[in-house]
Order: sequence, then structure tokens, then C-alpha cells
Amino acid sequence: MGNAFQTLEDNTAYTYLVNDHWSADAQSQYTFLNLADETAAIDWPVPLDQAELSDKDKAHPRLAEVEPMPSRKILVVGADGQLGKALRGLYDGDPSVEFAARADFDLSKEESFDGRNWKNYSAIINAAAYTAVDAAESPEGREAAWQVNVSAVARLARTAIEHDLTLVHVSSDYVFDGSRESHDENEPYTPLGVYGQTKAAGDAVVSVVPRHYIVRTSWVIGEGSNFVRTMASLADRGIKPSVVNDQIGRLSFTEDIAAGIRHLLESRAPYGAYNLSNDGEPQSWADIAGDVYELRGASGDDVTGVSTEEYFAGKSAAPRPLKSILDLSKIKGAGFVPASSAERLTAYLRG
Ligand SMILES: NC(=O)c1ccc[n+]([C@@H]2O[C@H](COP(=O)([O-])OP(=O)(O)OC[C@H]3O[C@@H](n4cnc5c(N)ncnc54)[C@H](OP(=O)(O)O)[C@@H]3O)[C@@H](O)[C@H]2O)c1
Repeated sequence: MGNAFQTLEDNTAYTYLVNDHWSADAQSQYTFLNLADETAAIDWPVPLDQAELSDKDKAHPRLAEVEPMPSRKILVVGADGQLGKALRGLYDGDPSVEFAARADFDLSKEESFDGRNWKNYSAIINAAAYTAVDAAESPEGREAAWQVNVSAVARLARTAIEHDLTLVHVSSDYVFDGSRESHDENEPYTPLGVYGQTKAAGDAVVSVVPRHYIVRTSWVIGEGSNFVRTMASLADRGIKPSVVNDQIGRLSFTEDIAAGIRHLLESRAPYGAYNLSNDGEPQSWADIAGDVYELRGASGDDVTGVSTEEYFAGKSAAPRPLKSILDLSKIKGAGFVPASSAERLTAYLRG
């Protein structure tokens, strides 16, 4: 779309509708074409050599030299967490994606929101969260979890609504009590612990943003310390651990969560909530630990299964859902088929 005009008489008013006011800041987002461009070949009523043109207008480039308008950017917040790092890898070299770790964009600080020209963005991916499930049960942890997972998410949601942005938010299997065999996107929230309660409240907030994707995932494995790394280290040191065998779910490797998010955005899938874990046979943590041991060249028999109740006896821990299996039909229907967790686990331990 281009816009230019000539006035043929004095005292002519020229009005047009815009969705944004001109500003020096916005100027860097504009692009210009020379009025005499041969490819546009505009038949100006007043020949250009007789028209009044500013020097600036005369200097505008021909079409071949025009720098295209930069596309509006995606802002990834929480970019140094496990998922954030996978998003950095996925979008590496893409100038339209900007990454902000906590030091660049602290979600709990108002100045993070004020200091940004949101008109230059099309979407925010929220990879930040308070994820310390057990610490969230303490008075300080409860406050911190509500602040990041609910109050800050409400602030993000307001920004998305005000500036017509798409908000991608990441949710958890912990919003459910785990009593159903598998969870679809319409299951009512039944969180057991504080972390799950904050994640459920955050989801409810995001669900009122007109353009939103809630990506619900489980048992996240990426760069950083996590269950698979811990088990691999125990296997390498010849330790024989007791691991919970009555929580059943599937791992979610961050590269697949990141790829699923990109798929939803690029395919313009209908807004709403989508489950996204890896695919394959659901397993207990003890089954997964056994697989890790085998892949490290140790024996899966070194892992002893224990119930959640036995494992946490005498420890202060948050209650956990026993069944975390996410129904993947909706995301598959949207054209994204996640890899199996067995395949990803093998590749992860090789890498
Ligand atoms: N991990 C799981 O098993 C799991 C399961 C289901 C769903 N999820 C969800 O998946 C998403 C990604 O999880 P993840 O495993 O990648 O988490 P993560 O590794 O703990 O990363 C979270 C990131 O958020 C940052 N953060 C915390 N408070 C912030 C604030 N006020 N402003 C800006 N950044 C802040 C953290 O920074 P600091 O390091 O400085 O605190 C951290 O870099 C979260 O929404 C989580 O709830 C995770």
C-alpha cells in the first residue's frame, strides 16, 4: 500500500485515515518510493518537473532500491529459561524475533512495559514463569508464584489487548488434579498445589485476550538442570535411585514446544488452548529413569519404583497430579505432530 497526493488548487484539504500517528520514532518503520518510479508509472496530473516537491521527496529511491518495511516483531520474555533457550535456538538469526531475559524485561516491573514501543510488535511469547513447585508452598514462594504467574501475566494480557498483540502463554499439567486418564483442553481446572493454582489463574486471565494461544505442556526437558540430566548423572556414578512410579505422563522436550509455538503462530491456527507434549506411550518417572539408565549403558533394574506417597513421606512437597497425560488430538488436528519422547530422549542423551 502506498500513499501520495498532488493538490491541483490552493487551499485543498487532503485527509486520510491511519491507524497510527506519525512520529519520529515511527519514521524508522516507514519506507518511501520515488514519485517518478518507472515501475509504478504514475500518471501524475501535474508533471513532476512542474510540481512542488521537497528535496527529501526527490531523493527517495527507485523500487529496486527500496528497503522493505521491517515486519512487526515477536518478543520472547523469560528467554533464559529452558523453553526460552530453545526458542532462541529455533529463531536464531531471525531479526524479527527479540529475546528478553529477566534482566532485559522483568515481568514484575512496570517500567518493563512502559519502556517499549508496542506498535513495533505483533506477538509476545511468555516463556517466563515461577516454576519452583515445592518452594511455591511456602509463604514467600506463594507470593512470588502469584506475582509472576498471575499478576505479571495479567499485565502482559492487558498489553496484548491494548496493542492488539497475539499472546502465547505456556501452561502446565499441574492445573489438573490428575484424576482423569488423560486431559483435553476443555477439562475444568482442579489444581492441587499453589504452583498449579497460579498456573490455572494465569490461564484464565490469558483466555480473555482476543488473540491468544495457551500452550499446555508437561514434564519439560531442555537446557539446564532437569530430571533426565539428574538420572543420567546418577547412572554415570553407579547410584541406584528410588524413583516415583505412580505419576504417569510424557516428557516434553523444549525444542518441540518451541516448534509447536512457531507452528501455531505461522499457520495462524484458531486462537485458544492447545496441549503440547511429546507423543508415544505414557510412562512413569521410574520408567523414564530406567530408559535413561539403559541409554547410559547402565541397567534399568538399578532403578527402584516407589509410590509418590512413599517418596515424599516426611518431606515438605507440593501435591502432584498422578495422571499428567495430555490428549494431543487438537494440536495434531492443527497440523503439528510432536515427535515421540523415546526418540527425543535418545537424541538428547547422545547430544
Ligand atoms: N518445567 C516443567 O516441568 C514444566 C511443566 C509444565 C509446564 N511448564 C511451564 O513451561 C514454561 C517454561 O518452563 P521452563 O521449564 O522453561 O521454566 P524455567 O527454566 O524455570 O524458566 C523460567 C524463566 O522465567 C524467568 N522469570 C522468572 N520470573 C521472572 C520475571 N519476573 N521476569 C522475567 N523473567 C522471569 C526465570 O528467570 P530466573 O532464572 O532469573 O528466575 C527463568 O529464566 C513455564 O510457563 C512453566 O510453568 C514447565
